[in-house]
Amino acid sequence: MHLRSLDIASSLGVHRSCAAARHILPTVDSVCTANAVLRELGDNRPPIVILTGAGISAESGLMTFRGNGGLWEGHRVEDVATPEAFMRNPELVHRFYNERRSRLQAADVEPNAAHMALAMLESRWPTSVTVITQNVDNLHERGGSANVIHMHGELMKIRHADTGEVRHWQVDCDATTLDGRWRPHIVWFGEAILEPEIITETLRAAGLFLCIGTAGQVYPAAGFVHETVGASVEFNIEPTAITAAFGHSLHGPAAATLPGFVEALMMAAG
Ligand code: OAD
Repeated sequence: MHLRSLDIASSLGVHRSCAAARHILPTVDSVCTANAVLRELGDNRPPIVILTGAGISAESGLMTFRGNGGLWEGHRVEDVATPEAFMRNPELVHRFYNERRSRLQAADVEPNAAHMALAMLESRWPTSVTVITQNVDNLHERGGSANVIHMHGELMKIRHADTGEVRHWQVDCDATTLDGRWRPHIVWFGEAILEPEIITETLRAAGLFLCIGTAGQVYPAAGFVHETVGASVEFNIEPTAITAAFGHSLHGPAAATLPGFVEALMMAAG
């Protein structure tokens, strides 16, 4: 597997609508999909790996990146999410992440039913459950998940530009913070993702891959579905650039589709 630096797909795959898109009731679809996955698993209860993106946090009140009203509509990636942007205009880059950090701590931003369902799955599934998230928010942890890999960094941390030291950080950060050499602990475009070896091992060991709320447009995450064997399910409100690569798709808000799916899996796990 080639774990490259962060890269936006230059050409998008063909969207394929799937049978599960014809949903009548989200919970009915969720249970049917879980049962189909359980039939594929047979008596096995393999390690589960879950890739999450901005969509899982949308119902918690955090903006996604793409699409109408998304973060990249109001900001150019080249201005706020590259090392060059930070060298050129650190004030603007810090302001962008300070706003995100502050929003994440707002009283109305809470983990939603999808985050909670994943935490429940981790506590009940007989083998390991690992969340690999592209999200820099902390809603998985606040929802109760313990086994979380933040491949694109974390908003609530800052990193020293020279030593690489990472610190928890709750307030604004700028060019005057501490010794003035601190940056957001965020993986910018052109930089290497975090924890590549652990991610490769986790994907290889998994027998069920769930992908929740990501547009499938940023690599290497968008290619993870090709690195796993076994059953795979995509959860999204609409077909994405990578839908065709999944065995199953559940279309609807993750907070509506995921709890029923997880509940059905857990019942099978005993
Ligand atoms: P995007 O904003 O590109 O995509 C969000 C996806 O979530 C879309 O496919 C939506 O259809 C879907 N979605 C929205 N609401 C949903 C809901 N309630 N339930 C389920 N799905 C929903 O976000 P990502 O794919 O996460 O990187 O973006 C990947 C990376 O690109 C981000 O980590 C960020 C960005 O540039 C960095 O900034 C380092």
